Amino acid sequence: MKIAVIHGPNLNLLGVREPDIYGSVTLEEIDQRIRALAHELDLEVEIVQDNSEGALIDAIQRAGAEADGIIINPAGYTHTSVALADALRAVSPPAIEVHLSNILAREPWRHESITATACVGVISGLGADSYLLALRGLCAMLEASEE
Ligand code: DQA
Repeated sequence: MKIAVIHGPNLNLLGVREPDIYGSVTLEEIDQRIRALAHELDLEVEIVQDNSEGALIDAIQRAGAEADGIIINPAGYTHTSVALADALRAVSPPAIEVHLSNILAREPWRHESITATACVGVISGLGADSYLLALRGLCAMLEASEE
């Protein structure tokens, strides 16, 4: 089984970006943890990060053709992007949205997620573990659907 992990804008700056909110973990460290868990769960992962909306849409469309499931942190586009939500709806693999911070405990304009309307679930507020829990959840969901 193959899972596409898609990181949105500014997540390449993790480690130096607002550490009081996002912690000191870098994106590279998060990706290493994702790869280690994927290995343990016997999953293949393809990880991409991009700052532009069009490239993220291309990554979702590619995942639609190549992957069994999607984990996406749309970052700032979470709250603005009809186009990313449409892309997620246009492909068949189920997607789980993740956030490092708890978006519901932050500014009111972060409380709405447009992209989550196209996802099967959301994990928010558990730091890097949000990604790892999403990977476990997606793996369990895909295994159950194979039975
Ligand atoms: C974020 C939360 C978003 O509101 C913010 O724009 C981000 C990161 C998170 O992972 O907590 O860039 O998606």
